[in-house]
Amino acid sequence: MPLPRLLGPTAMPNALPILESEYPAAARLLSPLGRRAELPLGIPQQTAQAAACERQATIGQITSGSGLPLTLPAIGEHFAGLDPKLAYLYAPTAGLKPLRDLWRAKIGVARSSLPLVTNGMSHGLSLVADLFSSPEHPLVLADPFWDNYETIWGMRNGAELRTFPFFDRERRFNLAGLDQQLAALRGPATLLLNFPNNPTGYTPTQAEAAAILERVLAHPLPLAVLCDDAYATLYFGEDVYAQSLFGALAARADRERLLVCKVDGATKEMVFFGGRVGFLTFSADGKAGEALVEKAGAVLRGTISSVNAPAQAAVLAALRDPNLPAQQEEVVGVLRRRYHALHAAFAAQGVDALPFNSGCFALVQLREGQDAQTVRMRLIEEQSTGVIAVPSANALRVAFCSIEEEDIPDLVRRVAAVVNG
Ligand SMILES: Cc1ncc(COP(=O)(O)O)c(C=O)c1O
Repeated sequence: MPLPRLLGPTAMPNALPILESEYPAAARLLSPLGRRAELPLGIPQQTAQAAACERQATIGQITSGSGLPLTLPAIGEHFAGLDPKLAYLYAPTAGLKPLRDLWRAKIGVARSSLPLVTNGMSHGLSLVADLFSSPEHPLVLADPFWDNYETIWGMRNGAELRTFPFFDRERRFNLAGLDQQLAALRGPATLLLNFPNNPTGYTPTQAEAAAILERVLAHPLPLAVLCDDAYATLYFGEDVYAQSLFGALAARADRERLLVCKVDGATKEMVFFGGRVGFLTFSADGKAGEALVEKAGAVLRGTISSVNAPAQAAVLAALRDPNLPAQQEEVVGVLRRRYHALHAAFAAQGVDALPFNSGCFALVQLREGQDAQTVRMRLIEEQSTGVIAVPSANALRVAFCSIEEEDIPDLVRRVAAVVNG
């Protein structure tokens, strides 16, 4: 049966041939949905083409003749300070252009596409899954992992999750496990790298990062590497590879074999959890980058149509604010102090924690025979303390990002009372 196609003309009719000639790995990695994803020459695109016209009778937005939104004061008064044209009208399918430009400059990787704005990072991840995963294209990742990956890749895309234990017996990042899963692949796949990691709070050391890089670059089959950089900037330990692997991978990616995708955003970096502003960037510049953004944009248009404009306008304004870096550094400083307090409290209470050097979390290792869900419930009932059970590692996840520094010794005392009791 032929694949269903769009009925009318498309905005970029040659996206697939462009990828086939300019970025063969990307073309070979595409899922069936990824192959057929294309944007129609539809209302947003026709509107953009008419942007400079004197009379604009294109997109169905309620505006003055000069294109300003007829915003109701009852709404507008809550967004004072935002540019009305940016905040109250539809943002373009791929996001506000100046925001995309500034985020690209911030990422600072020459061989990359313009970022596509996504509805938070989960949405960026699900776009990558839609484009490159299917029951035939598995996902390789370390276990434990953030639970939403299973919803996105397993439940939604029917992709197989092939895991390896995050730490080896010596509690170092498990390079041998990564080797094994890469060696077992027989066709296109995605490798997910999430550092700083949720739930372990671990980022590879410089040497471990170099070893990961070497393995990925040597992989002989088409591979999409997805860097989930949700916790970028939260690096606390010594000798950690304190940046995304995206840059180093993109610089050396062989276009016949390797595509690198980066998902990051304002959620944690700008402490804007409810804002839902994320970004998806590919290791492809020029026409190939445009073709990949076009395909991701087509899936976006077919689901949410357009990302929340006031939140994009707020992030754009923040990126232009000279005070932003100092404000962000202040938050990082708060978390760094909590991180050190947590290490000290674990040591003082004799709690067995797995290695952690970054991010927002640490894992408490339970003893054999202890059940993570049972221990978690006992902590709620006996110690009025909430943590997250991570059964695959027989561990508890402690979010130190949510506890005041001075309360951390008390938190750990409560955890120890049940875990060591
Ligand atoms: C590893 C990881 N990636 C992505 C996300 C999703 O972020 P967002 O809230 O922007 O969808 C989270 C959120 O907790 C996360 O822990």
